[in-house]
Amino acid sequence: MEARAVIAALRRGEEPTAEGLRWFASGLADGSVSAAQAGAFAMGICLRGLSEENRVALTLAMRDSGHVMRWDLDGPVVDKHSTGGVGDCVSLVLAPALAACGVYVPMISGRGLGHTGGTLDKLDAIPGYAVAPDEARFRQVVREAGCAIVSASAEIAPADRRLYAVRDVTATVESLDLITSSILSKKLAAGLEGLVLDVKVGSGAFMKTDEEARALAQALVSTANAAGCPTTAFVTDMNQPIAAALGNTLEVDAAMRVLTGREQGPLYELTLALGAALLEGAGIADPEAKLRAALDGGAAAERMGRMVYGLGGPMNFVEDWGRYLPEATVIREIPAPVSGHVASIDGEALGLAVVRLGGGRTVETDRIDPAVGLSDVVRLGARVEQGAPLARIHAAREDQAEEAIRVVQNAIALGDPAEAGPLVRERVG
Ligand code: URA
Repeated sequence: MEARAVIAALRRGEEPTAEGLRWFASGLADGSVSAAQAGAFAMGICLRGLSEENRVALTLAMRDSGHVMRWDLDGPVVDKHSTGGVGDCVSLVLAPALAACGVYVPMISGRGLGHTGGTLDKLDAIPGYAVAPDEARFRQVVREAGCAIVSASAEIAPADRRLYAVRDVTATVESLDLITSSILSKKLAAGLEGLVLDVKVGSGAFMKTDEEARALAQALVSTANAAGCPTTAFVTDMNQPIAAALGNTLEVDAAMRVLTGREQGPLYELTLALGAALLEGAGIADPEAKLRAALDGGAAAERMGRMVYGLGGPMNFVEDWGRYLPEATVIREIPAPVSGHVASIDGEALGLAVVRLGGGRTVETDRIDPAVGLSDVVRLGARVEQGAPLARIHAAREDQAEEAIRVVQNAIALGDPAEAGPLVRERVG
């Protein structure tokens, strides 16, 4: 087998063989495929697309390019993945809530991408929390806490690690086949028995239309199921932040408020919808009632505490999280320039404002300031009087706060009352 044969088949518009795709994935992992060949391969798939059968073959080949975890636990092993949004800290609530309901969640998460936040960046805000433990510790925390949220080790789907870096610089990220195989290869390598996917659509998501989101949801569900992992997807609304906060510390705080029963709202509701589907698939009766009980009764918070402590964070984080999270130097209200109802929210603009405040990265080497961001963001449809707050800004410097205030005032349009659409738009699978 030779890289050129696989690339030439793609160039001619022919389907590569499953064996060719397997060979290519292992060549990506062991370095025998060059970066130029990887780029040509990615462009070939972008332009020509793969059959469903070959998308599954590529996903399995990328999963098998590294270590595939196996578990020996007394309950089902499940996980969720979100395609990314703003104020989306569902993982921080969902993983411990699921653990409290008797399933195990070895959650391999990512960092922020573009305007969207990343779960690992949020967890980095917790002093001591190790997002990259060795496998023995990862396994121990999953066993003892029921959940552990960590980064992918170098051994997990190395073919994806390499191909993703090449796609990033060759304008080949936007391919349904490549996105599907990339996301699923890492998730499936964690040895899952069930998966739920949160495919976001709207102003704060990568997918701006229902059609795009539905196509991705269908590709992910059919591929994951064919790869042997029972999977459901939800297309969910991202026309406004899920939590009313954006930024790493602020989102940990939002998640802790839901986990400790201080707040409900969309973060709570979305956690229930995604979690109930996973528990139902795992054969657990009354899934929604169990999740509500775990969240309202403190069992989910207790699992969060065990996970944080198991991964190096403070022992009493759940009891006293405010003490451990850094606070920004400049905290100011953002006044509404006119009176009106919140007619639309440009989620991408809000996310980029947080990145500019230092809450995300513009290049890989940027250091994140965990304390900065937005809190108390108004919701669609709310009535706001001139001068009343649209949100609160958390910044490191006055000039940065000033700039972000202008961006937020432009991103939140005030006018006639707008209907916020349903949080869950569609279920696939
Ligand atoms: N996230 C991934 O892990 N891979 C992609 O291709 C896109 C988003």
